[in-house]
Amino acid sequence: MALIGVFDSGVGGLSILDEALRQLPEHNYIYLADSLNAPYGEKSSEWIASRSMELCQYLAAEGCDAIMVACNTATAEAIANIRSELNHIPIIGVEPGIKPAAMQSSNGVVGVLATEATLKSDKFNALLATLPSNCQFIKQAGAGLVPLIEAGLANSEETLELLAEHLEPIQDAGADTLVLGCTHYPFLRKAIRKLLGDSINLIDTSDAVVRQLKRRLEAQGKQLEDGRFGSISFISSKDSSALLKMAQELMQSDLVPHHIQSQLVGTFK
Ligand code: DGL
Repeated sequence: MALIGVFDSGVGGLSILDEALRQLPEHNYIYLADSLNAPYGEKSSEWIASRSMELCQYLAAEGCDAIMVACNTATAEAIANIRSELNHIPIIGVEPGIKPAAMQSSNGVVGVLATEATLKSDKFNALLATLPSNCQFIKQAGAGLVPLIEAGLANSEETLELLAEHLEPIQDAGADTLVLGCTHYPFLRKAIRKLLGDSINLIDTSDAVVRQLKRRLEAQGKQLEDGRFGSISFISSKDSSALLKMAQELMQSDLVPHHIQSQLVGTFK
């Protein structure tokens, strides 16, 4: 059994925690949401790098055996430094699934919805440069979507309208595949389906990311105990009870068998 830290700018990383609970329910988790500072996607690289490091240092000090940087933006801007600073534990990041999207697209037109910081980052552009030039990527920053999801408005009319604007260029280009390049966006699936229909292929990498975590834990010899449900601590820099409520609303996983705690981390104001 292991203690796993999962961090995001807010509630987005709950989409990764959800998958982690499906595949690895026996471990204990700390979910850390920096909702006081969300969204990260429109902040400077320097700010994102230093704040992400601070949060990962907190998780490491809490005794985490592994940390999931459940945020594409923080992964793009900070993961190299976090890995070199905290080199005694596995640090698992999340990146927009542009490679599987390029492989799965039939017409070679792929939409990528991500934060502005992710799309501008060197890490994302280096990954893009490795992909075949016959695939066309329509990149779109999802400005304004994260605050709406943080406010519990993922399925509101306002969100639908903003999303329609962001998806228009992707739709106009005829994309048959859409990469959800921000961990908040899987919570917009329903709205995206409403706008783009059922035929578009939606790519989110949470399954692959959790399989990677599983491999790293197995390599560390962390034993799996069948039938056990671990604990989950929900910690927010803003409001931990609100975070727990959002987790209960947004996640598919049944939280009932897990031991749940929520607390406020004053030092992360
Ligand atoms: N959920 C994050 C991501 O995957 C960050 C969103 C934000 O705070 O802008 O990029």
